Amino acid sequence: MRTTHVWCSGSLYRMTIGAGALGVVAKELMRLGFSGTVVVITDQTVDGLFGNQVRQSLLDGGFSPVLMVLPAGEEQKSLETSAQLYGRLNEIGAERSTPLVALGGGVVGDLAGFVAATYFRGLPLVHVPTTLLAQVDSSIGGKVAVNHGGLKNNIGAFHQPVSVITDTSVLRHLPEREFCNGLAEVIKSAMIRDEAFFHYLESEICRVMARDENVLEKIVAATASIKAAVVEEDEKDTGLRNILNFGHTVGHGIESASAFSLSHGEAVAIGMVAAGQIARHLGMISPPDFERLRALLRRAQLPVFIPSCLDVDAVLRAMTRDKKVAKGRLRFVLPLKVGEAHIHCDVPMNLVKETLVRSHVVA
Ligand SMILES: NC(=O)c1ccc[n+]([C@@H]2O[C@H](COP(=O)([O-])OP(=O)(O)OC[C@H]3O[C@@H](n4cnc5c(N)ncnc54)[C@H](O)[C@@H]3O)[C@@H](O)[C@H]2O)c1
Ligand SMILES: [Zn+2]
Repeated sequence: MRTTHVWCSGSLYRMTIGAGALGVVAKELMRLGFSGTVVVITDQTVDGLFGNQVRQSLLDGGFSPVLMVLPAGEEQKSLETSAQLYGRLNEIGAERSTPLVALGGGVVGDLAGFVAATYFRGLPLVHVPTTLLAQVDSSIGGKVAVNHGGLKNNIGAFHQPVSVITDTSVLRHLPEREFCNGLAEVIKSAMIRDEAFFHYLESEICRVMARDENVLEKIVAATASIKAAVVEEDEKDTGLRNILNFGHTVGHGIESASAFSLSHGEAVAIGMVAAGQIARHLGMISPPDFERLRALLRRAQLPVFIPSCLDVDAVLRAMTRDKKVAKGRLRFVLPLKVGEAHIHCDVPMNLVKETLVRSHVVA
């Protein structure tokens, strides 16, 4: 188990990563000085897998756990569900110092984090992320949000956790598609920041796919640190945080044009390849480095072409509605080589269209 301290947006907190970390939740809450009631927000799937273990460890630690269990799914990220949770917090007499534990994937983390940010203007939040995506991405950076009126993450706040406890052994239970969804963000982070990590992924991809615990611990820790470092550097207003959007300009367009039938990670994988193709066309990345990216995504069972059922014009329309468009020019994060990327604000629309048409698989 690794324990690191992370500075993120001005807050310092502990990040505990490793197999068996669920067992230290009570100990960590004690270390932070909490006692009495602990609220655990989770979903039914995660409750069925790990609810008892977390409840028992809190009881053993002398806490009074209150579990609030929601159905699984993105629809729960709503003001309505938040209102239900506020009601439950009223009922149990939660106080400003009552810790709220978000036990689950990114949906639970964003929703519970939003409730923690707003109830009594801020309850202490502990993230216990259980999907790969939540472990490497959504539990870091302090963004919390719900969806409203058909828009995603449009009602939200920044609320840093007091601790993040990441048990990599829970990833064994994840369905294959959810696991690969998170792997896209792992590969993205290595590609934009860390050549040695990318090389490690290339050489250990079989053990990654077999979910070898030692390898998982290493890749989760490395990816989480990259995100924390980028977010922290952005505090100094370098605009650097945007490089985390590598693959997301096209990715968001694909996700929304597919009516979310492609997962976020699948769409981002296609988006990374498209950004790589644009960079190659502009002479920014060498063909072998671009091939390394595409090959690793393939080996991680991620798609690298736009599926035939998707209309390229619909993808382009969705992209131009997205906030990454300024005055008809598209802002892209383009890879320069494995381990390095930069933000390019001026990618011509016709080059984007040409690239998408070329990466469209016609059945
Ligand atoms: N706040 C941020 O910075 C940020 C960043 C990226 C994504 N997000 C948000 O994250 C959400 C997506 O998160 P997600 O991909 O984790 O989805 P999710 O939370 O819906 O989890 C996916 C599914 O996996 C199940 N699950 C969770 N842990 C499991 C385990 N260990 N074993 C088996 N099943 C398990 C869940 O019950 C759910 O059915 C989106 O709402 C997105 O907007 C937020
Ligand atoms: Zn993403």
